[in-house]
Amino acid sequence: METHTLMPGASVAVPTLNLIGNTPLVELVGFDTGVCELYLKLESQNPGGSIKDRMAVSMIEAAEQSGALAHGDTIIEATAGNTGIGLALVAAVKGYHLILVIPDKMSPEKIAHARALGADIRLTRSDVGPGHPDYYQDMAARIAKKTPRCYHINQFANPANPLAHEVTTGPEIWHQMDHCVDVVVCGVGSGGTMTGLSRFFARVQPDCEMVLADPAGSSIAEFVRTGKEVPSGSYAVEGIGGACVPDIADLSRVRRAFSISDSESFLTARDLLKRTGIFGGPSSGTLLAAALRYCREQTVSKRVVTFVCDTGSKYLSKMYNDYWLLDQGYLERPSKGTLGELIARRYEEGAVITVGPEDTLLTAFQRMRMADVSQVPVLQEGKCVGVLDESDLLVAMHGDPSKFHSPVRDAMTRRLETISPHQGIESVYDILDRGLVALVTERDNFLGLITRSDLLSYLRRKLH
Ligand SMILES: Cc1ncc(COP(=O)(O)O)c(C=O)c1O
Repeated sequence: METHTLMPGASVAVPTLNLIGNTPLVELVGFDTGVCELYLKLESQNPGGSIKDRMAVSMIEAAEQSGALAHGDTIIEATAGNTGIGLALVAAVKGYHLILVIPDKMSPEKIAHARALGADIRLTRSDVGPGHPDYYQDMAARIAKKTPRCYHINQFANPANPLAHEVTTGPEIWHQMDHCVDVVVCGVGSGGTMTGLSRFFARVQPDCEMVLADPAGSSIAEFVRTGKEVPSGSYAVEGIGGACVPDIADLSRVRRAFSISDSESFLTARDLLKRTGIFGGPSSGTLLAAALRYCREQTVSKRVVTFVCDTGSKYLSKMYNDYWLLDQGYLERPSKGTLGELIARRYEEGAVITVGPEDTLLTAFQRMRMADVSQVPVLQEGKCVGVLDESDLLVAMHGDPSKFHSPVRDAMTRRLETISPHQGIESVYDILDRGLVALVTERDNFLGLITRSDLLSYLRRKLH
């Protein structure tokens, strides 16, 4: 592949698809890697932001070469997100119509990215398995059958998927590591990366160990350990793991498997960002956590390679959002069984969106939109003097948009339901049942509010 070096101020025409691959490889410093050296290949630097760009271009070009795909055709794929972005990038550059069937647990940033590239998105359930009509892969196969001139990519059985890694990722690592790689730690989504790299390293350095990093709850690690396919549980890490070993996956060279919990994955990726500035997604946390465990177990020095599989910018609303981590129960606050712990966003931490009584309704509405909330407390000198919600806004407008310039004090509700943080949790039910929000105050000082969604998140955390 051609490479181009850009001098400051210079510009050069580089076809976008040539920017896929040739990603940097850096040695990890600042982490305890025992006696080993640990290297990260930054797949987050691909133009679509993930390792999946490689197989997207490989699978589309293989279909073009075999005649299965021609100008004017539709491409369809069931994807957990990154493959969709890679395919959407290639389809946009080459001018194909692309349909993506995406399970609804995927991060909104990934879906928005694929949609912005022009993909036709069909969201489906993420809580059903193979055989169910809403299972994302079954749904894609069904749409493919009834859409004329439609090419189903099927990354889970497409040989051009592992081939991309056999002919690009593997040789790049080999070259960047000066022909000495003792261990590769990798996840399995479709199995393309693991299979392609296994084949490449079997040829150039047959003693290179392939190690699996798998989310706890996925069945793939158990398959590596025991050869048995066991039922899978649920996990929140995206892009890797699964209920069964995909058709394309050749795990015959994998001897070790690590199962990493969601919280360890999230916290490891966040740690990587804080300590090195390298911005990876949750699966990069899974891989790094597994690689670190492997490295610390060794007594003889080894050169270990793992991946930053995608960029963390795709997960700003999820694992890089403290409130999401708290709502989902990945960050714990000490539990006292009192109302105080239901306050998801605390005023003293600057986390509550508020307005003042003299602000305009337009300001209030814009803050509500920006924070995606349907009500705001009205504060004056740290005391709560009212609450404004969407119905108050609608009543105030009464069809006249100029009322957006009126002050909040004219539209807010003054009848407040305040409650002390030391009361028991049962005391909030009555307030929420009446469709109100509970304002938590202590000695007149406002602490935060409790909405129905906060109570539901609290109850959901108790499920674990
Ligand atoms: C986000 C993400 N996508 C995909 C992969 C690899 O997927 P595949 O097995 O489909 O090559 C990884 C691997 O670690 C990953 O972290």
